[in-house]
Amino acid sequence: MDTELKGQIAIITGASSGIGTGIAKSMAEAGATVIINHSSDKSTEAADAILKEITDAGGAGMVIKCDVSKEDEVIKMFADVVAAYGTVDILVNNAGLQQDAKFDEMTLAQWQKVIDVNLTGQFLCAREAIREFLRRGPRPEVSAATGKIICMSSVHELIPWAGHVNYASSKGAIKMLMQSLAQEYGDRQIRVNSICPGAIQTPINRPAWDTPQALNSLMQLIPYNRIGQPKDIGNLAVFLASDKSDYITGASIFIDGGMTVFESFADGG
Ligand code: BGC
Repeated sequence: MDTELKGQIAIITGASSGIGTGIAKSMAEAGATVIINHSSDKSTEAADAILKEITDAGGAGMVIKCDVSKEDEVIKMFADVVAAYGTVDILVNNAGLQQDAKFDEMTLAQWQKVIDVNLTGQFLCAREAIREFLRRGPRPEVSAATGKIICMSSVHELIPWAGHVNYASSKGAIKMLMQSLAQEYGDRQIRVNSICPGAIQTPINRPAWDTPQALNSLMQLIPYNRIGQPKDIGNLAVFLASDKSDYITGASIFIDGGMTVFESFADGG
């Protein structure tokens, strides 16, 4: 087991599937105690299974059900973690979803749901994390930084996305949430950064990879010619939470096999 995050307490929202699960496993391997957050009774079994896998491998943590878009639930989740482990060192603001529709057909409910979870959820969790970091102060025995927040953004904080205006808007907003927090709390040694994944093979984008035709067309967008895996994101999240990245704050780090170099321009423009 790696020890880069030894003794640190990490909350990973939306950790019962996809990228969140990848991050929880990587952080546990790096020695962190991981809080596997999930949102509803439907995901309890999956979250429990992930915790079991982690503890069977020698890691530690707990499962907490909490809808990140609900203020009272988020406040309670942080209180429960502080009661159990004393503090929080790392927040991975990962929970997110898509509700795709053509813009002229998009309902207010589809718009609102995506903004509530992807943006308001990150606001609520970041606020509780920062309150806890300020209350607790430095913990030099585990990290040079007083606290670390990693926001899950997307290549779509940069690349416009027709048919997904609610999602792209939420990710564009995350860029400013993240950078403004890095600016506001840098002098308290709180680091805030974003991970901007491209196409990672998870349930959220199944239609983009689950047939050979779909995968082939996806590859036209990825110079590196493979779909990403949750482990790719887990590796980056561990780095961003560790002191190896201690001078990085306010950064959006793209991890996309080159999607943001716009391969379609290789023979055009
Ligand atoms: C979306 C995926 C999509 C990827 C690249 C992600 O943020 O959630 O559905 O495949 O961006 O377009």
